[in-house]
Amino acid sequence: MQKLIIVGGKKLNGSINISGSKNATLPILAASILSKNKVIIKNIPLVKDVETMVDLLSLLGSKVKLDKKRKKIEILNSNKLNTFAPYKLVKTMRAGVLVLGPLLARYNKAKVSLPGGCAIGSRPVDLHLGALKKLGVNFKIRDGYINAIAKNGLIGNKITFPKISVGATENTMLAACFAKGKTILNNCACEPEIKDLSRFLIKMGCKIKWLKKRKIEINNVTNLKPITYRVMFDRIEAGTYMIASAVTDGRIKIKNINPKIIKNEILVMKKMGIIITIKSKEIIVRNSRYIKKINLKTSSYPGFPTDLQAQIMVLMCGANGVSKIIENIFENRFMHIPELNRMGAKIDIKGNQAIIQGNKKLNGAELMATDLRASVSLVLAALSSKSKTTINRVYHLDRGYENIEKKLSNCGAQIKRTE
Ligand code: UD1
Repeated sequence: MQKLIIVGGKKLNGSINISGSKNATLPILAASILSKNKVIIKNIPLVKDVETMVDLLSLLGSKVKLDKKRKKIEILNSNKLNTFAPYKLVKTMRAGVLVLGPLLARYNKAKVSLPGGCAIGSRPVDLHLGALKKLGVNFKIRDGYINAIAKNGLIGNKITFPKISVGATENTMLAACFAKGKTILNNCACEPEIKDLSRFLIKMGCKIKWLKKRKIEINNVTNLKPITYRVMFDRIEAGTYMIASAVTDGRIKIKNINPKIIKNEILVMKKMGIIITIKSKEIIVRNSRYIKKINLKTSSYPGFPTDLQAQIMVLMCGANGVSKIIENIFENRFMHIPELNRMGAKIDIKGNQAIIQGNKKLNGAELMATDLRASVSLVLAALSSKSKTTINRVYHLDRGYENIEKKLSNCGAQIKRTE
């Protein structure tokens, strides 16, 4: 199994080009199922989850061409697709369940594996199924599979999500594009990646209108147009490298982004004393050498993202006092904490709260990566420490970070991968 070996203590200095967003690319790839015309998606991140979604689409019968050099995917679904998404692909990536909505839209039936739990929590799909039911879908759960059928086709409805969910909003939006008449979705997630998905769908000919911050109107269409679409930047990758700069007392220019989309993260880091210069498509992040404690809670966009919680905790370890984080989205997202504590951090967990003592200098250690964002927080901790760290089981990182070693070593990090 591959490991990363990092020798910390280097001030990172340089530029990092931020890749396309994984969490926008995955639903957009699923959305391609709706169209019989050519779909070209540009600026895709070269990460494992995107490859898994490409494999899933190919298994469904899509003609998919992944051009890694140009970071482009071409898809043609003019033929009839299978409606069966097997466990072996959905289990490795929860976003696989996003093929359910578009398969139902196009064929009124689908059999999709339940994604099951994962390291950060139980992650059910009840909100997806509850909303699709309101569009006329009947479900039978058998042998770990969702067997879905809409006997009379999908029919538009008014749906209020009982809880905000990114995936449930996306799956329902995708199904509703072909549901007869009008669908109103209330209490939707409004993450920038969902806005990107809706921009993609609108450009392809779907009738989607955001009426309010969390309210969407969708009217059905029957014909879609060929499309070429450029995916938005990865705001979590951008946030991760902002923290990399801050924890190493470095100076990193973060390029190819829209700073407005991450204004809350910029504000949080400025409050912590990090110096950030904002330009139209890039920011420069520098450490003021005096990091202030802060209390944070994760919440749906525009709140602080749960996907950056593990990373910002590393910055808090070096702050001037006690910081707190309340994790409101996933129940088991503190798995990085025991590993950070082994590096000399002092972090206590009380329910969904982490209490982080500041003024801690971290030491290198041999570590085990657990999930995607926990893994990258260990990379940040290792970069900030003064000695050598070995991170085992790094395949999690490859699910969501493109070329992380190269991007960091270009800024002076000493990082290498070994078997
Ligand atoms: C997406 C992101 C993930 C991010 C998360 C929260 C993708 C591919 N993944 O995941 O990186 O961490 O949003 O911003 O975009 N829930 C239910 N029932 C459901 C669905 C969700 O109870 O049917 C719960 C979840 O367990 C969680 C909360 O709702 O506690 C939010 O989850 P959700 O927004 O659905 O996350 P994902 O779409 O899975």
